[in-house]
Amino acid sequence: MASTRWEPAQYARFADHRGRPFHDLLSRVASPSPSLVVDLGCGNGPLTLGLADRWPGARIVGVDHSSEMLSAARELDTEGRVEWVEADQAEWDPTSLGERPDVIVTNAALQWVPGHLPLLAGFVDALADGGWFAMQVPGNFQAPSHRLMREVAAAHPRAAELSPALARADAVAEPGTYLQLLTAAGAGVDVWETTYAQVLDPAGEQEDPVLEWVTGTGLRPVLELLTDEAERAQFLDVYRERLRAAYPRTPAGVIFPFRRIFAVAHKAGA
Ligand SMILES: C[S@@+](CC[C@H](N)C(=O)[O-])C[C@H]1O[C@@H](n2cnc3c(N)ncnc32)[C@H](O)[C@@H]1O
Repeated sequence: MASTRWEPAQYARFADHRGRPFHDLLSRVASPSPSLVVDLGCGNGPLTLGLADRWPGARIVGVDHSSEMLSAARELDTEGRVEWVEADQAEWDPTSLGERPDVIVTNAALQWVPGHLPLLAGFVDALADGGWFAMQVPGNFQAPSHRLMREVAAAHPRAAELSPALARADAVAEPGTYLQLLTAAGAGVDVWETTYAQVLDPAGEQEDPVLEWVTGTGLRPVLELLTDEAERAQFLDVYRERLRAAYPRTPAGVIFPFRRIFAVAHKAGA
């Protein structure tokens, strides 16, 4: 699949909100001293470096297909604690590292791989005995932020290109599906979901914090296609207004509820 162009600095805004599910996910991974830890769709690096902090004795590998994200990650990794690998997580061969991973993490990345469900059994299979697979995906593709994006795209003159490039309402499965697939792969499984009542921009410094948020992630395919200023404005002017109505400012800030789905699978063995 073609790689979306990322802007690491834009993604890094709201880093606290984006990092929290990663920490919640990892809190359920009980590997005491793994030798090899892999972060698939690792992004711009800070969370992967957190894995190196947690397991200082482990070899840590971050895999991503975005050269922009990886170069931001390498810049952050001043001590060279992580091996950064440019690859597509859908095609990446877990045996390519010469040893079986004890932990495979993929946080907020599998939703970018259409039809990712068949990959799950392969990740569990690739683990060392006693290993852990931990994934988190957003469960908000039917939320106004995404629904409105699809609606505005469908009404745009370049709808024929925009609509297929956007995440579909069914980009991720329901928690029970992840639970069943990972159980069928022979692992002990823990699946849950959380809706974070995220408060964006409590200080009132941004006109459109939800637009800022999606500009760092889900809106990337639109921005990549609409490079002409007028065409882009034609999209953004409508989308911005509709986002403002869907996510009004409150005295607390702009409340942006965000559902996330988590699954942790523990492979039997040592
Ligand atoms: C929302 S960011 C998440 C980054 C990081 N895991 C985090 O939690 O902050 C999604 C990342 O997945 C990467 N990605 C998307 N599809 C991918 C694929 N098919 N193969 C490898 N990386 C992919 C993107 O390049 C991006 O860095």
